[in-house]
Amino acid sequence: KLLTVSILGAALVAGSAQARDYDHVRFGVDVPYEPMEYRTPDGELTGFDIDLGNALCEEIGITCEWIVQEWDGIIPGLMSRNYDAIMSSMTINDERRQTVLFSDPYFTPPSAWFAPADSELDDATEESLDGKTIGVQRGTLQDNFATDMFGSVANVSRYSTADDMVLDMQAGRLDIVFLDYPVGKSTLLDSESRDYKVVGEMITEPKEYFGDGFGIAFRQRDEALAERFNEALATLQDDGTYDEIYERYFGD
Ligand code: ARG
Repeated sequence: KLLTVSILGAALVAGSAQARDYDHVRFGVDVPYEPMEYRTPDGELTGFDIDLGNALCEEIGITCEWIVQEWDGIIPGLMSRNYDAIMSSMTINDERRQTVLFSDPYFTPPSAWFAPADSELDDATEESLDGKTIGVQRGTLQDNFATDMFGSVANVSRYSTADDMVLDMQAGRLDIVFLDYPVGKSTLLDSESRDYKVVGEMITEPKEYFGDGFGIAFRQRDEALAERFNEALATLQDDGTYDEIYERYFGD
């Protein structure tokens, strides 16, 4: 009995220490994921998430810092307190909601399939992908979907970083890749190396896979912190700051 009580007590103490007021927030982010988060030629972090995250911190009146973390371990890193939030194009979905607390969505792009322009693929179905090699970033919802839907007929190649996958695509080692649309547009469609196309439709369904847009992820106890970010996001959406950042990366 006594043991249970003291464990409970320790948990309560740890819990209240955790739900603190932040004046500095550390964001975990996986790069490169252009144009969402990547480095300039001189190594500085930039991108839609980075600019929006910094603007949110400024609006809240806190400082923030970015900590680079590979996607595969990005939620565990939040739990181990290596940082306080994840802002890394993370799609809000029910599976992740069991572990983290999400902000309101700040961006809702579709997913899309990309292949070389001269590929004979013009849709992504079990039939067309039979025997093909599909590239995905490991641990993304695109990985989950491609593996569940096509893993039995196709070869799903999982990459720890999105740019390794893009490099293999450019080297001709993949037939098709599945990505958040803006990232495929920026790294493949807009790239000078070779011609690429979108295969089939933009994909937003089923929601179990494709979720509810990108959100900032927090530890579940940090409700107050998430609330401050939600309020700041609404302000930046009203005052034109959000649109300005959007134009910077998506206005052609
Ligand atoms: N939106 C996708 C997901 O949440 C992929 C995000 C990958 N982000 C990154 N920075 N590499 O699963």
